[in-house]
Amino acid sequence: MPRIAYVNGAYVPHRHATVHIEDRGYQFADGAYEVVNAFRGRLIDERLHLDRLDRSLGELSIAPPMTRQAMRLIMREVVRRNRMTTGLLYLQVTRGVAPRDHKFPPAIKPALVMTARSIPEFPKEMHDDGVKILTIPDIRWARCDIKSVALLPNILGKQAAAEADAYEAWMVEAGDYITEGSSSNAWIVTADNILVTRPTGNRILAGITRRAIFGMAEELGYTIEERAFTVAEAYAAKEAFMSNSSHFVTPVTQIDDAVIANGKPGNLTLELHERYVRYMEAAIPLQSLEA
Ligand SMILES: Cc1ncc(COP(=O)(O)O)c(C=O)c1O
Repeated sequence: MPRIAYVNGAYVPHRHATVHIEDRGYQFADGAYEVVNAFRGRLIDERLHLDRLDRSLGELSIAPPMTRQAMRLIMREVVRRNRMTTGLLYLQVTRGVAPRDHKFPPAIKPALVMTARSIPEFPKEMHDDGVKILTIPDIRWARCDIKSVALLPNILGKQAAAEADAYEAWMVEAGDYITEGSSSNAWIVTADNILVTRPTGNRILAGITRRAIFGMAEELGYTIEERAFTVAEAYAAKEAFMSNSSHFVTPVTQIDDAVIANGKPGNLTLELHERYVRYMEAAIPLQSLEA
C-alpha cells in the first residue's frame, strides 16, 4: 500500500510529495513541527501536541495554517489513508513560500505538511537492556522551548551518539548541567528515590511524555524535583531514563563510560514505562472519536 502525505491542501503519494524550493522551512528552517504518537488506533495526547504547536507558532509569529478542527480532520485522514494503527504522525508548519529575504514577507500563507509512518510497537531490546547515552556540549540557541524545525545541533548530537555506539546524546551546558536529549527529555532517580528532571523554560522542550510522567510518578507516590542536574550526578544515579513520544520511557543503563547502577533498567523506570503503555491504551480509539 503506498504511503500518502498531506501537502498544502492535497493528499499525494509520499514519493511524489514535494514543497516549493522557496518554502522558508527549506531555506531558513522557519517553521515548527510536532510528532504525535499513534498507538493501537489512538492518537496520544493529540490536544497537548496541538497546543504546543500553537505555542511554537505563536512564539515565531507564524499564523496557524487553519482551524484546529480542520487540522484534526486532516490528521485523521492521513492516519486513515496510511492505515496506520501504531506509528508516528508528523506535522510541520512553515511560514510559507516567498522570494528569499530574511524578514517576514507580507501576507504570506503558512505551509502545512503531514506524514504518517507505521513503526513496530516498541523495540523490545531497548526496554530489556536499556540504552547508552553520550554526553555532548549543548550548542543550541536560547529558545529550546520552541519546537522549531531548526535541528542541526540535535542531528549532529544524534550522529555523534551513533558513532559512539550510543542511542541518544544528552546535551550539557556550562557548569556541567544536563539540559535534555537530542530528541528526548532526560531523567535520573537519586539514591533516595527522588525523580529529577530539568525544569521547563527556554533551555529544554516541554515534553508531552515528560508531562504524563509527572502524573504517573505522583500516583506511585514519588517526588519529582525539577532542577538542573550534573553529569556527575547522572553517572552516580540509581536509575536513569529518557522520555519522548516515539519511545515513551526508555531505560538508560550507560552514560559515557559510566554504567548506571548494576547496568540493568531500573524498577521505577520499568514501572513508569508500563504505566505509560496503560495510559496510551486508555486513550479513546480514533474510530470512535469525532474530529
Ligand atoms: C529536543 C527534544 N526534547 C524533548 C522531546 C520529548 O518531547 P515529547 O515527549 O513531547 O515527544 C523531544 C521530542 O522529540 C525533543 O525533540
